[in-house]
Order: sequence, then C-alpha cells, then structure tokens
Amino acid sequence: MGELTGKTALIFGVANHNSVAWPIAQQLAARGARLAFTYQERMEQNVRKLTADMEGALVLPCDVQRDDELDAVFARVGAELGGLDMLIHSVAYAPTDDLRGRVSQVSRQGFLTAVDISAYSLIAMAKRAEPFMREREGGGSIVAMTYLGAERVVPGYNLMGIAKAALEAAIRYLAWDLGPAGVRVNGISAGPMRTLSARGVGNINEMFGLIEQVAPLRRNISQDDVADLAVFLCSPEAKNLTGEILHLDSGFHLMGLGKM
Ligand SMILES: NC(=O)c1ccc[n+]([C@@H]2O[C@H](COP(=O)([O-])OP(=O)(O)OC[C@H]3O[C@@H](n4cnc5c(N)ncnc54)[C@H](O)[C@@H]3O)[C@@H](O)[C@H]2O)c1
Repeated sequence: MGELTGKTALIFGVANHNSVAWPIAQQLAARGARLAFTYQERMEQNVRKLTADMEGALVLPCDVQRDDELDAVFARVGAELGGLDMLIHSVAYAPTDDLRGRVSQVSRQGFLTAVDISAYSLIAMAKRAEPFMREREGGGSIVAMTYLGAERVVPGYNLMGIAKAALEAAIRYLAWDLGPAGVRVNGISAGPMRTLSARGVGNINEMFGLIEQVAPLRRNISQDDVADLAVFLCSPEAKNLTGEILHLDSGFHLMGLGKM
C-alpha cells in the first residue's frame, strides 16, 4: 500500500498499547500520515506516553458524549493539521451492570449511554469531519470498529451487540449521506482480541478457544491484523469501497454451528 505523506488522520480510542486503535495509528504514521489523537480523561497519561515519540502528533481531550469537546477537537485539527483525510472510530462503552445482566433487564439509561458512546459518536464525528474531508483530494475515509454480536446473538455481548447494530446501520447510512462529498465510511467486524474493553465482555476466553477449533482458518486475529485492514480502507486502493462491514475473524462468521 502506498504512502500517506501529506495526509492527516484523527484517531479516537487509544487507551493503552493493547488498544485496537494503537497499531492503526502506528501504521498510518509509518506511512507518513500526520496524526491527532483524542483521549478520555483517565487515559491521558497513557496516550501522552505512547505518542511522545510521534513527531507532530496532536493529543487532545475528548469525551465523545460532549459536543463542546468534539467541536474543540475538530477546530484544533483544522487549525493545526490544516484538514482531515482519515478518521478512526475505535470507541465503545456499556455500563457494566447493563452489560453483564440479562438483556430484558437493561436500563433505559444504560441503553442510551451505550448507544450514545458506541454509535451516535460516529454520527457526531462524521458531521464534523465532512467539511474537512470534502475539500481533500481523493476524499476522506472513516473507519469504525464493530463485532459479530451486532448481527448474531453472542451470549455475553448483550447490550453491546445492540449498540453495535446501531453503529453498523449508521455506517451504511453515513456512507450514503457522505458519498457525494467523496467521504467513504466502512466498518471492520473484528474477532475477539485481548484489550481493556474486551475484559468487560463475558465468555471472552471461551471465544478464543472456540475460534481456534471451528473458524475456517483455525486461528484468532490480532490488533496488527486489524491495523493492516484499516490502513487499506484508508488508502487510495480502497477508493470505491464504502458502506461495507468487513469481517476480519478467520471466517468465524460463516459458521452456523460450533463444535460437531
Ligand atoms: N477487543 C475486541 O475483542 C474487539 C473486537 C471487535 C471490535 N472491538 C471494538 O474495537 C474498539 C476499540 O476497543 P478496544 O478493544 O481497543 O478496547 P480499548 O478499551 O482499548 O478502547 C476503547 C476506547 O473507548 C474509549 N471510550 C470509551 N468511552 C468513551 C467516551 N465517553 N469518550 C471517549 N472515549 C471513550 C476508551 O477511552 C478507549 O480508548 C471498540 O469499538 C470495540 O468495540 C473490539
């Protein structure tokens, strides 16, 4: 894949070195892109340490539930990076009680919080990215992270699956809405990986074992694998690809039955 020199990327969702967003950022930087990162308040030190050696990287606070903070991020990106070509959405959250309990017992507030942070945030970012991206040569690319639990029942994923279903629908509708501006919007439906957020999901260890036994490729995926695909989706080689949810899960999503 080609060079990204002269391009800029805004990355939401680095919490630590295990975060899916981190190797994506590293690969984009290695190809020459200039980066801006946002962090959730409690992650500030981690993100500042990780990015300390990245020349010219902007590091900005942003709680994605706050419109004023989102406005400030995009204003800084415009002023200091001079525009935006790529945006990585790698943010999700559901309150633990609502995630762990029965789906029928999910609270109204828990539902709204999960969908706000995990799905509406993509719309809020796309709205602010469009004016920058429509100006850029070759248009813009937005990539969001999702999971199979949006399409099928994965016990333990529960409320997060409902929020990811909203995210995946938002990806398709945004692809349609932003297409005329030259902005592409795609999702990566990644298999399970060991990250901070994944700890909150029940049955994660069983999932790793099951994938090794039944996925067509008989192996789990890594954050680096996600980064390879995200960089492709951001690159000119993917210029006609939009509104897709690409499964990066060793083919696990194909299976109708687990063990036989
Ligand atoms: N780890 C997996 O197994 C897996 C699989 C498929 C998809 N994903 C998705 O990948 C994305 C990244 O998750 P991860 O696994 O790297 O975990 P992670 O914990 O490293 O990243 C989640 C990020 O969301 C951020 N976040 C949560 N609430 C926020 C808020 N209100 N404002 C701003 N940021 C907020 C956190 O600060 C963190 O940086 C998520 O969308 C997740 O659902 C993860």
